[in-house]
Amino acid sequence: MERLRVGVLISGRGSNLQALIEACRDPDYPAEIVLVISNRAQAPGLARADAAGIPHAIVGHRERHAFAAQAEALLREHRVDFICLAGFMRILDAGFVQAWRDRMVNIHPSLLPAFQGLHAQRQALAAGVRFTGCTVHFVRAELDCGPIIGQAVVPVRPDDDEERLSARILEVEHRLYPLALRLIAEKRVTVTADRVDIEGWRSPEIAALNPVGPAAGRFARTSV
Ligand code: GRF
Repeated sequence: MERLRVGVLISGRGSNLQALIEACRDPDYPAEIVLVISNRAQAPGLARADAAGIPHAIVGHRERHAFAAQAEALLREHRVDFICLAGFMRILDAGFVQAWRDRMVNIHPSLLPAFQGLHAQRQALAAGVRFTGCTVHFVRAELDCGPIIGQAVVPVRPDDDEERLSARILEVEHRLYPLALRLIAEKRVTVTADRVDIEGWRSPEIAALNPVGPAAGRFARTSV
């Protein structure tokens, strides 16, 4: 099996990177992480790459074009086919985004298009929504926009604070991201007119993350 060669861009903690690393340990998983790039030297995620024996690099992002050029060279050197942004906190150069169109995804801690930008969990609490979650989407030039591959939903509880809600969302992020990447690597994801089709979307593994899918019976669909 030819595995999809993935580069992961991070800025911080790297818990989603870790979830992808764990998924890739399974020899049947159709993707492998061949490079991690961080724009911050102190990113704890770099130690996770190191522990997993994955080549990693620090590329400063003071200048958008320079970052794009250096990252591009590294991605080419490591023959990266596909990019996962995992807590990468900088806006990427438009040319870079265009060059990787439909070959670069991001994970965001809300049900997009709600609560784009920073502090999505805080925004959800302020809005008083009863459900929120996370989204894996293809990257476009506009921040937190682009065709949606998958979403996972969590309830917002009346006594939640930002930390508790973030932890609940993070748990489903760690399940959704490896699943989305697997579907992509299996070539089951296609983008048509900026919407995503997923081959085999009825399968229980996909429905399990989606409270309105065929497995809905197993989930609480109302929350007060
Ligand atoms: C996650 O909440 C992700 O959705 C957002 O940034 C955070 C990164 O966390 N884009 P980690 O670095 O993966 O732990």
